Amino acid sequence: MNPDPKSNLNSESAAAPLWLIAVFAGLLYGGMLYVDRNGGDFNAQVYAPYHSLAELQTCQPAKGGDEEVIRLGEQRYAQTCGQCHQASGLGALGQFPPLAGSEWVNEPDPARLIRIALNGAQGPITVKGQDWNLVMSLNATTLAISDKDLAAILTYVRQAWGNKAPTVTAEQIAQIKGETKGRAVQWTAAELNAVPVKK
Ligand code: HEC
Repeated sequence: MNPDPKSNLNSESAAAPLWLIAVFAGLLYGGMLYVDRNGGDFNAQVYAPYHSLAELQTCQPAKGGDEEVIRLGEQRYAQTCGQCHQASGLGALGQFPPLAGSEWVNEPDPARLIRIALNGAQGPITVKGQDWNLVMSLNATTLAISDKDLAAILTYVRQAWGNKAPTVTAEQIAQIKGETKGRAVQWTAAELNAVPVKK
């Protein structure tokens, strides 16, 4: 028997990788934990911001007719009136009077407002104590808008920017279209003031 002098050495060098593997496994595990906790700036709260179904539901957009009408109205307003009266409803000094807080917009009876929306307004008009003397000209696209869309626009305008006037329906639009049939020019404030309205 002549034992190989190198065998002892071999078994020692074979044992070395075991603790090395353990150290690396530990480092890897610790590294993953670190990334998991700090990676991507993720706030753990985003996973569980709600404590009950009721709480979650309070954060959902309300369903039902009115919300849909307002959304439609907001969209059509942007295409039809917003270029002049602005998304803010504040208009522009010397060019377009405001709809936010306007008495023409907020009258309980929309008979005058609907007339303005159908044919426009012209000449001297007072809005929130300020005098204007301009012409509201409506283009062909605006004049062709459906009763339903115009009702949505006016409902939106009467309930946006702090305005608090009742809804306008497509039936009310159709009725006033009937009463003003054949009219092609803008209304003056004097003509509008002569329109009988329910108080
Ligand atoms: C091309 C620009 C323009 C567009 C588009 C326009 N308006 Fe006007 N609007 C005016 C001007 C200018 C006046 C002021 C008319 C005057 O001096 O008699 C006015 C006046 C009014 C008034 C009365 C005054 C007030 O500020 O309350 C109302 C209400 C109104 N517009 C609503 C609308 C609605 C609703 C639409 C969309 C369907 C619309 N306008 C689209 C320019 C516009």
